[in-house]
Amino acid sequence: MATLVLGGAGYIGSHTVDRLIEKGEKTIVVDSLVTGHRQAVNKDAKFYQGDIADKDFMRQVFKENSDIDAVIHFAAYSLVAESMKKPLKYFDNNTAGMVKLLEVMNEFSIDKIVFSSTAATYGIPEEVPIKETTPQNPINPYGESKLMMEKIMRWADEAYGIKFVPLRYFNVAGAKPDGSIGEDHMPETHLLPIVLQVAMGKRDKLQIFGDDYNTPDGTNIRDYVHPLDLADAHILAVDYLKAGNPSTAFNLGSSTGFSNREILEAARKVTNKEIPAEIAPRRGGDPDVLVASSTKAREVLGWKPQFDDISKIIETAWKWHTLHPEGYQDK
Ligand code: UFG
Repeated sequence: MATLVLGGAGYIGSHTVDRLIEKGEKTIVVDSLVTGHRQAVNKDAKFYQGDIADKDFMRQVFKENSDIDAVIHFAAYSLVAESMKKPLKYFDNNTAGMVKLLEVMNEFSIDKIVFSSTAATYGIPEEVPIKETTPQNPINPYGESKLMMEKIMRWADEAYGIKFVPLRYFNVAGAKPDGSIGEDHMPETHLLPIVLQVAMGKRDKLQIFGDDYNTPDGTNIRDYVHPLDLADAHILAVDYLKAGNPSTAFNLGSSTGFSNREILEAARKVTNKEIPAEIAPRRGGDPDVLVASSTKAREVLGWKPQFDDISKIIETAWKWHTLHPEGYQDK
């Protein structure tokens, strides 16, 4: 049996492929390489370059690999700010892409899919910590595109019996501890890589977007989770579906919040660098606090995150950045 990983050359996808291979699982990767990196894909995975919305291409992948019995789907665009400017790009690639994928999966009777959803589906959360039952009211097209994907899958389950698990990630940070794979986005917009780029002297200073939020130090609070812990959660979710369990969603976070200032301070300690920073205006669309309740994933999937300490997470990211100051260098 084989697992098909869509978007397996991306940040979280590549860590999941690595973990699957480590566990001795046959793994097939599809990635368009629009944002992913070929070098990030473990050499023992079978690789196809192509677009998941190209039905003929995907039919060929399923035909050539008749042992595929589950799909893990990471192949989506994920920049909140870009989605505000180009919403149709997100509804086309993420949402319409999912429709085409499900059509082909149904043709080939593949009935299990685990997919990357996001805390952005909750918008400004009505309660913190956020539970899976907290109402989902996204405030940007990115979150909306993922919520639509969740809804489409519900009806595909009803009609065709395709079982699904959306995993709603909070803020992903860190890299494989040996520094061989890590985070390489172009452009980079995320807090921790930017902080570490300042530490390396690749940027002058960090701008902290707003210090007048409703939090103890005035800066936003986020919940950081390591990509290898996410990888484990995906593998557990596939096992959960293979055991015949019903479709359901899980939040994935560490359940501990850190403010942007706390991340900066922790990074100063880990890197032993000054990391100049200034307060800048709010970025827009940033909720005060996003912290997960991940009780359901722990209880139902038996998920036990290994990277439960923010300094450990930052250390792994720092190792990746110092070993690969220019990222993967394949673009
Ligand atoms: N921030 C700064 N300066 C920067 C970059 C970020 O102050 O240069 C702040 C942001 O304003 C925010 C925090 O750092 O308060 C985290 O921002 P990120 O851009 O790193 O992450 P987001 O919380 O905006 O979004 C991430 C993912 C989304 C996902 C969300 C869920 O990018 O896809 O987490 O929590 F939906």
